Amino acid sequence: MTKVLIAYFSSTGKTETMAQYIAEGVRFSGHEAVVRKMLEIKDVKGLSGYDGYIFGSPTFMVDLPKPVKTFLLLTQNAKLEGKISGAFGSYRHDVSYKHDAYAPAIIFNVLQKENKMKPFELGPFNLKEDSVETREGMKACQDYGRVFGEKLL
Ligand SMILES: Cc1cc2nc3c(=O)[nH]c(=O)nc-3n(C[C@H](O)[C@H](O)[C@H](O)COP(=O)(O)O)c2cc1C
Repeated sequence: MTKVLIAYFSSTGKTETMAQYIAEGVRFSGHEAVVRKMLEIKDVKGLSGYDGYIFGSPTFMVDLPKPVKTFLLLTQNAKLEGKISGAFGSYRHDVSYKHDAYAPAIIFNVLQKENKMKPFELGPFNLKEDSVETREGMKACQDYGRVFGEKLL
């Protein structure tokens, strides 16, 4: 069975909840989803053996939290070239012009430009924290995971 790694950083649980919903979506598509905290992945071995990768982070100061930057450096040594990759995360403030500077977009760009990974065609997925635990938020996360899984076929 094809296997997807969903690794996330989360300070108050919103991005963690998104990770679990996205994993459900991947499973709906018939694939295996493994959910891990980025901080639990200490070396490149923890990144090997997957067919697709989805990384999640909240936006901190219109940037990535430091542990996420450290994790991305680790992924650069993991030889993930050509693997399909997505990115997601939650945020609080709607500053429209800055969405492409929020965490999911930053991660998505690094994965393509530095890691030479294949971009998931739905792009980065940014969800406002108020909606993460709504029915619509759950569905949006599940859809992201489901479509990602379908692209693995
Ligand atoms: C230090 C810090 C900086 C933040 N900076 C931003 C920001 O620049 N833009 C924004 O929309 N939200 C910002 N937030 C809010 C978080 O992105 C938001 O609460 C998010 O849902 C937290 O996700 P988590 O529960 O997975 O940690 C910040 C939160 C913290 C703690």
